[in-house]
Amino acid sequence: MKRTHDCGQLTKADIGASVALAGWVDTIRDQGGIMFVDLRDRKGVTQVKLEPPDDEVKAKLWWKLKPESVISVTGVVTLRPAGTANTALPTGEVEVDATGLEIHNISETPPFPLDDEGGDRVNEDLRLTYRYLDLRRPKMRRNLEVRHRTTKAVRDYFDAQGFIDVETPNLFKSTPEGAREYLVPSRIHPGEFYALSQSPQQFKQILMVAGVERYIQIARCFRDEDLRADRQMEFTQIDVEVSFIDREGIYTLFEGMLKEIWKAILDVDLPVPFLRLAFREAMNRFGVDKPDTRFGLELVDFTELFKKSAFKVFASTAAGGGAVKALNAKGLADVTQGELTSLEEAARSLGAKGLAFIKVEGSEWKSPIVKFFSDAEKAELTQRLGIADGDIIFFAAAPWEKACAILGRIRLECAALLQKRGRLAIPANQWNFLWVIDFPLMTLDEETKRFVATHHPFTAPVPEDIPLLDTEPQKVRGQHYDVVLNGMEIGGGSIRIHQPALQEKVFKDVLKIPADVVESRFGYLLRAFKYGAPPHGGIAFGLDRLVALLCGTTSIRDVIAFPKTQKAQDLMTQSPTPVTPKQLRDLHIAVIGPPPA
Ligand code: AMO
Ligand code: AMP
Repeated sequence: MKRTHDCGQLTKADIGASVALAGWVDTIRDQGGIMFVDLRDRKGVTQVKLEPPDDEVKAKLWWKLKPESVISVTGVVTLRPAGTANTALPTGEVEVDATGLEIHNISETPPFPLDDEGGDRVNEDLRLTYRYLDLRRPKMRRNLEVRHRTTKAVRDYFDAQGFIDVETPNLFKSTPEGAREYLVPSRIHPGEFYALSQSPQQFKQILMVAGVERYIQIARCFRDEDLRADRQMEFTQIDVEVSFIDREGIYTLFEGMLKEIWKAILDVDLPVPFLRLAFREAMNRFGVDKPDTRFGLELVDFTELFKKSAFKVFASTAAGGGAVKALNAKGLADVTQGELTSLEEAARSLGAKGLAFIKVEGSEWKSPIVKFFSDAEKAELTQRLGIADGDIIFFAAAPWEKACAILGRIRLECAALLQKRGRLAIPANQWNFLWVIDFPLMTLDEETKRFVATHHPFTAPVPEDIPLLDTEPQKVRGQHYDVVLNGMEIGGGSIRIHQPALQEKVFKDVLKIPADVVESRFGYLLRAFKYGAPPHGGIAFGLDRLVALLCGTTSIRDVIAFPKTQKAQDLMTQSPTPVTPKQLRDLHIAVIGPPPA
């Protein structure tokens, strides 16, 4: 049956027309022998009036119709009787008086309701097991459409600026210093492995050496990470690399891209340029390198104040090079004991030795540590934290980065508690984009006491800091930038090193990677750089995260058609699975641990 219209199309203007529709039975109402079916396809819903045929065999079949069955209908468009119009539907004034019905498939009863609210209430595992039903829900269909329109806007934007889309291999070689990778055994080379690409980073840099100049790819990436709401093992990047560009050029290019996406999807005009925040400032004020700046509750530093304090916990930390920081969770003095315990647990999970606090109730400071504070200390706390009745102040004393991170976490948890009480409003449709810049190029790994690249070893140092590479590498800033939106890191990249000598120096002298390992892992890249590498830089955006924010959901699983669960399983196809002994033999693999079934 050929369709003449879709189910979102018919209006009063079509009255009298003969039409053919097809789709899924959304609902059925039986009104004294006449059936009213809401027929649904991807465009909408149209009411169909069915009077069962006189033919008894046929009529029997009609009465077997159930929701989610697939049918085609022919009939005439009529005006709904007075008082029965549905103003909530674009097609709500008309119905199709059916003259013919073809039943393609009778559906079994779905295991959960397929409307938005009904589906949201059920367990996500059930939705993922029957993902094809879950994706019929209007909300999920809209999410897939937003994803499509986002990638289309991105492709159009870069196409107009002369970028070309180049595909790079998913089967790459193992580069163990990044995230944990997925290994793929080689059948042809016994005992050898490919690794699924964690990102096209090295290939896109090679493409710059190849003279491509402007590269874009909507690239699939694979990382064997612990999964969370904002992390999948298989995810998608908007991956870009550009030759002859500096940081300012990058900021303008990608502010332009985001502006275009927000206009296309949400019809919102984003103000540019975005705020820029140095890494240290982000940590000092918000306790995290991806701050949500839609609300205050900023951290305040009291290291100087407590250097000579009678409260030894603070004094010894402050005098020993650490930091003492505080946060006023305004109006949260009525925190319950249970909430307080979970705040303390959150702090301890980040390595806090404790979470000192002061509750201000009836203008009285209630806290076991207040007796150690001098009047001057109290006065400065009051003034700089704006302390008032009903507040609760939290403290962290620890090495600087840890103290920031602890209170950064407490800040988010307190914001959630205040929101729950209706005392803090965090607007969902406010878009606080910002660039975080001036990250340290290297971070000291506490365990191995070695420097590791804060982002990746290809990031160029800020030129004026290069002399410090030999003397104080921890002070060298990288030309790295992250894009943060409402507390989520949505993208990151850098201007790269393009001189082979500097890249080799970073590998060997700073990261202390042995020469033979540098050669086997990165030899090809260093060689490529010796044949005329242009200055270049780029960035990658997490497409899944971006689309999740555009769709107003906190889980990227909601914007991926077939995601894995937190336990790294696909519940619909039931993967992973054991394989046959023959498959393993062919791949020269012996399994230790649970044997294949
Ligand atoms: P990075 O590792 O920061 O940079 O990744 C870029 C962006 O990808 C998103 N992202 C993820 N999204 C979902 N699930 C994951 N497991 C996941 N991991 C990362 C984030 C992140 O900001 N090659 C560099 C980019 C460059 O330097 O050009 C890279 O991959 O939103
Ligand atoms: P203590 O002197 O160990 O009994 O600690 C007194 C209070 O300070 C308790 O509420 C602890 O949770 C808290 N506390 C201890 N160490 C720290 C720290 N490093 N940072 C913040 N609070 C702490």
